[in-house]
Amino acid sequence: MEGGSEAARVGKQMEELGIIENGSVWLEDGIIHAVGRDEELAATYQHRMAEAEIINASGKLVTPGLVDPHTHLVHAGTRENEFNMRLQGATYMEIMNNGGGIHATTTATRQADHAALFAQSKKRLDQFLLHGVTTVEAKSGYGLTLEHELKQLEVAKQLHEQHPVDIVSTFMGAHAVPRDYKENPDQFVQLVIDEMIPEVARRGLAEFNDVFCERGVFTPEQSRRILEAGMKHGLLPKIHADEIEPYEGAELAAQIGAVSADHLLRASDTGIKRMAEAGVIAVLLPGTAFFLMAESANGRKMIDAGVAVAISTDCNPGSSPTVSMPLIMNLGCLKMGMTPAEVLTAATINAAHAIRRGREIGSIERGKKADVTIFDVPNYMVLQYRYGVNHVQTVIKSGVKVVDGGRLV
Ligand code: NIG
Ligand code: FE
Repeated sequence: MEGGSEAARVGKQMEELGIIENGSVWLEDGIIHAVGRDEELAATYQHRMAEAEIINASGKLVTPGLVDPHTHLVHAGTRENEFNMRLQGATYMEIMNNGGGIHATTTATRQADHAALFAQSKKRLDQFLLHGVTTVEAKSGYGLTLEHELKQLEVAKQLHEQHPVDIVSTFMGAHAVPRDYKENPDQFVQLVIDEMIPEVARRGLAEFNDVFCERGVFTPEQSRRILEAGMKHGLLPKIHADEIEPYEGAELAAQIGAVSADHLLRASDTGIKRMAEAGVIAVLLPGTAFFLMAESANGRKMIDAGVAVAISTDCNPGSSPTVSMPLIMNLGCLKMGMTPAEVLTAATINAAHAIRRGREIGSIERGKKADVTIFDVPNYMVLQYRYGVNHVQTVIKSGVKVVDGGRLV
């Protein structure tokens, strides 16, 4: 798979994988030096074969390292009790409004110290890597005070520095209105704008700023203020939009020129059209719809409307506790009307663009980072057809073999 890094792919381009049958890749100094047919590379590098480590991937699928552009990786604890409640009829928002949901994870995350949070999150990051993912976006949003938001972002930074998987950080102080601001949500919005955003930006702890724009959480107007405040401090806007109810989140994303609008289960046709016009990437999260037993976003409709679509796990303890991008790709096919080729584009180059890394990762191209995953399947369609199995055999991150034989090296 190669080519096309200038912009996210739209429409028919999402089907174009640039597959090379019997291909080879030459990786050196953490960078992709060459990609082409076996015989071409063999001729070019003949004189250096003896010094190289040859990885034989015959009969297997070689893809760019998968990119997950939307996770809540850094958090403490689990919420299987809420899962059980939802199976008996309680809704996600009911649970949250009664002090569970994001509030429950906020309590657990505040209680966890840096070391505990690091240990729990690292375990998940290892699992991401074992599923072929080499770059992950990670949001804060379970601290909801400056101190604890900074703690989450510091953990993400340390993971980025110490773990093979690269982390791209997003500040999401506006993930929920904390319980003690219930009667005065605007005061919390002001706190996010006046204190949290400037400090996070000053410390260089995030590149993006995200907000949960949803009825009963943050209104479109509050969301706009928060995202505009972030932009003033150099944080690029992202938005959790139209997840549970239609709320003109897609429209807002287009208006302010967000890098991505995420979820979009209930996005309006006008919102979708505006996103296409404004070049906002749709980050779709079919695992969340699956786990909340809701109807998935309509990926097919968005692609046909000219929106660039990316997909992601949304890994979080409430609405999508998974680390498996291959499972998400399968759900993309079965639940969102996308083809296997489109979901591969959505999980690689378009996912990279959704976190502004389209020039560095997301495709096997000369000059890009040597992030490559080898799956033990004969072609990309089998990857999504034989679902529920981890087919990852080898992962190479920045030129270093970090997963071998399906195990961490
Ligand atoms: O993307 N919708 C808001 N945030 C997360 C869920 C967070 C949680 O339930 O802990 C999401 O679905
Ligand atoms: Fe999310």
